[in-house]
Parts: sequence; C-alpha cells; structure tokens
Amino acid sequence: MLQDSFGRVHNYLRISLTDHCNLRCHYCMPDEHYPFLPQKSLMSADEILLLAKTFVGLGINKIRLTGGEPLVRKDFDEILFRLSQLDVELLLTTNGVLIDKHIDQLKKAGLHTINISLDSLQEKTFERITQRNEFQKTWSNIMLLLKNNFRVKLNIVAIHGHIEEELIDFINLTKNLPIHVRFIEFMPFDGNEWKSEKVITSQEMLALAAKDFDLVKLVDEPHATTKKYKAIGHDGTIAFITTMSNQFCGDCNRIRLTAEGKIKNCLFGKEEIDLLTPLRKGEDITQFILQSVQNKHSVMGGQLEKDYKQTDAKNIINRSMIGIGG
Ligand code: 5AD
Ligand code: SF4
Repeated sequence: MLQDSFGRVHNYLRISLTDHCNLRCHYCMPDEHYPFLPQKSLMSADEILLLAKTFVGLGINKIRLTGGEPLVRKDFDEILFRLSQLDVELLLTTNGVLIDKHIDQLKKAGLHTINISLDSLQEKTFERITQRNEFQKTWSNIMLLLKNNFRVKLNIVAIHGHIEEELIDFINLTKNLPIHVRFIEFMPFDGNEWKSEKVITSQEMLALAAKDFDLVKLVDEPHATTKKYKAIGHDGTIAFITTMSNQFCGDCNRIRLTAEGKIKNCLFGKEEIDLLTPLRKGEDITQFILQSVQNKHSVMGGQLEKDYKQTDAKNIINRSMIGIGG
C-alpha cells in the first residue's frame, strides 16, 4: 500500500504521456519556445506499461492520462488499449482537439468519462488564450463525446477579471446538456505570472452564480477535489476546485508520473525521483516509489501558504504546468 507518513493511502496515479501540446495556453506553457523533451527522454509505451503495472501492484486502481496533450502522442491508442487491460479505472484529460481521431479507441478501451480543458466559449477568446484557432473543432468534439454517451467534464481555469464574463454562459451550458463544468481556482506554476489578485475564489464565483441560478449543493465523493452544485432543473452540474481558497490535502490520494518518468508526490512539490533511469538499468523501482510517497509533505508540497494571499510565487520551486502534466 502506498501510505505516506500522514496515513494517506494513494490509489490514484496521473501519468503524463508527453509534455508536447497542440495549443499554447499561457498559464500552462508560458514560453512559446518551451524546450520540449526529446523523444528519447519520454517513457516509451512499453515503459509506461511496466511502470503502471508496478504501481498497480502497489495499490493503484485509478489512472488518469494527461499531458501536455496526451492525444498528440503517435502511440496514444496503443498505450490506451494496453492500460485498459489492467485492473484500473482509466481516465483522460485532454484539450479535445484530436478526439474525433480517437473516438473508436476511447470506446474500445471502455473509458466512461473524459475531462476537457476549455477556458472559453467564445472563439476569439479561445484563440487569445490558446494561440490557436481550434474552438470549433474542440466544440464539435465535445458534442461527439456526448453523442457517444461519454460523461463529459469541462475544466475551466478561472482567472479573476476574465471568468466573470463567461461564468453564466458556462452554467447555462448545463441547462440542456448533461455536461459537468468545473471552475478551477488559478494556481501558481513556473512562469505563469500568478498573483493572488488573479485568483477568484469559489465563494466569489458561487455568489455571482447565485444571482442568476437557484443552486443546490450535491454530495461530494470521497477524495473529490471538487465541490459540486446543480442549478435546479439543469441536466448537468457545476463544481469548484478550491485549491487556493480551501486546500484539500488532508485526504489526498494522488501521485504523478511526469512524461520523462519521474514520480512527483504532489502537484506543488519540488521533489521528484527518477524512475525511468533505474527502470532502464533493470533496477527495482519499488523502493523509489515508496521513498517518494514517504517523503510527501502534509500540505501543498510544503511550499504554499495556507492563506493563498500570503503566497509569493517567486518563492515556489516547481515546473510549469505543461511539464508537470495536469
Ligand atoms: N491553475 C488552475 N488550473 C490549471 N490547469 C492548468 N494550469 C492551471 C492553473 N495554473 C488545469 C487545466 C487542465 C487541468 C489538468 O489543470 O484546465 O484541464
Ligand atoms: Fe495544452 Fe492543456 Fe496546457 Fe493548454 S492547459 S497548453 S491545452 S496541456
């Protein structure tokens, strides 16, 4: 069992398949000349499988594939299929641009839920944020997923001064579509110009939403990172990820594997342990996984203040989001 020194049991692994992406969201990949990892540094499909099996042997029963953008990997379908043979719940976070090319494989692999990162419902704003003109494609792929009976969650990075314009439109989406929109409080990562003033808290968003909708609180699942609500009469739900205003590290069950095979025990931790190099040398990697879990800090990688307003992004040592993998 992957139990840390605070008694938290880790059963959920997020694997970044690549740090490459076909979009350029500024909060995630701040530098247009970001030094992508060379092919040989990335875990191969075989290595991903070997690592995943080791984790499953240690109690992991839920795996999420992330990136960068996982679907840009040429061998994505193969990796997906092979992972789907393991005894795990398999999930995916994607920007949605390439979904139509993989829909049959996603069905075959038995995925039931897909998380799509989508920060705007307006074509122009989408292009400003992502530096790419892919809104229509993304939107038609979301519709394609719904048509194929996938459960669709939309991840929206909520930035103060921007989200206010679209919050109501996003909630309106849930009226006739069984879509689950999730507003994520803006988090600090390397190079993303985070300032506490750019954070809009869940409380503030809820207050804005409550002006236009009658909201009821829904029950949150164990280990959930979201606080779920529903506008009465709507098909879909809304939720808030309160990483900044209300930290939920106490029952964290998540660990991460970066695209170059380093285990990261916390999204905000600076400590990483290389698993791929010892794996390539034929060494036993279990000891390194256990060591990483043992070293996990109690809260926010030991780097962020409890009150986010006191956090100074300059003092945080971490990667940019594209390098961590969502
Ligand atoms: N703050 C909050 N959420 C972020 N994401 C990426 N960068 C940030 C950030 N700085 C979200 C994306 C993606 C999810 C894995 O994390 O929306 O869907
Ligand atoms: Fe790509 Fe997602 Fe990062 Fe945007 S947030 S650059 S879509 S990985």
